[in-house]
Amino acid sequence: MIFDTHAHYDDEIINEDRDELLWKMKEQGVDFIVNVGSSIASTEKTLELVERYPFLYGSVGVHPSETGELTENRMLWLEEVCSKEKIVAVGEIGLDYHWPEPEREIQKKWFRRQLVLASKVELPVIIHSRDAAEDTLRILKEWDKDKTGGVIHCFSYTKEIAREYLSMGYYFGIGGVLTFKNARKLAEAVEIIPMDKILLETDCPYLAPEPYRGKRNQSVYIDLVAEKLAELKGIDKKEVLRITSENAKAFYHLK
Ligand code: NI
Repeated sequence: MIFDTHAHYDDEIINEDRDELLWKMKEQGVDFIVNVGSSIASTEKTLELVERYPFLYGSVGVHPSETGELTENRMLWLEEVCSKEKIVAVGEIGLDYHWPEPEREIQKKWFRRQLVLASKVELPVIIHSRDAAEDTLRILKEWDKDKTGGVIHCFSYTKEIAREYLSMGYYFGIGGVLTFKNARKLAEAVEIIPMDKILLETDCPYLAPEPYRGKRNQSVYIDLVAEKLAELKGIDKKEVLRITSENAKAFYHLK
């Protein structure tokens, strides 16, 4: 039982064999996938994918690095598509200060606007936050009274920051990075995160776990992340997959 809570199967890297790859998922133990929009174009593709594959659900939103393309009209379009069947979240949205563009003020503006949208349409959010821990926390605290639930995707901060998110009720998206040799900081954070707040994700085609690091990632590889998590938590891998799948269904309000 695998639930991949964060994937990008719309990515052009997968154009060649998308159908072949996705139709094999079920027989390989992957039951659910949430494909996450990161721009207007990838959100459009996500809408197509959810219609084609019964086990695939979608999240709609614009990644902080793409917020330069957002306009009032495009926000209206995003709101409209939130009501479509099989759309289960708003995201990925947030802040990414790793790159200088777009300006931080632009990123913050559209992060706040997409949080307001999530409250309006009553969907949880998928947060992307890179090198921007303080501003992300500040904005999420502003949003706290209207919050609809959220996951910190590809959590990459310290256990102190993890405690803050935990106190606010957030989930943590854990993926291939956990298996990397230099992932000690993440392993420390994972130790203090209770199992009922962990969602497993690939971020595929990126961030493949060991021993596939650097190669194209796919949902089946979540098994390797579950194995590592089982080791850290001292529980059975099957139990990890069961609990995290239940968490994901609760988070995305799926039956
Ligand atoms: Ni992503």
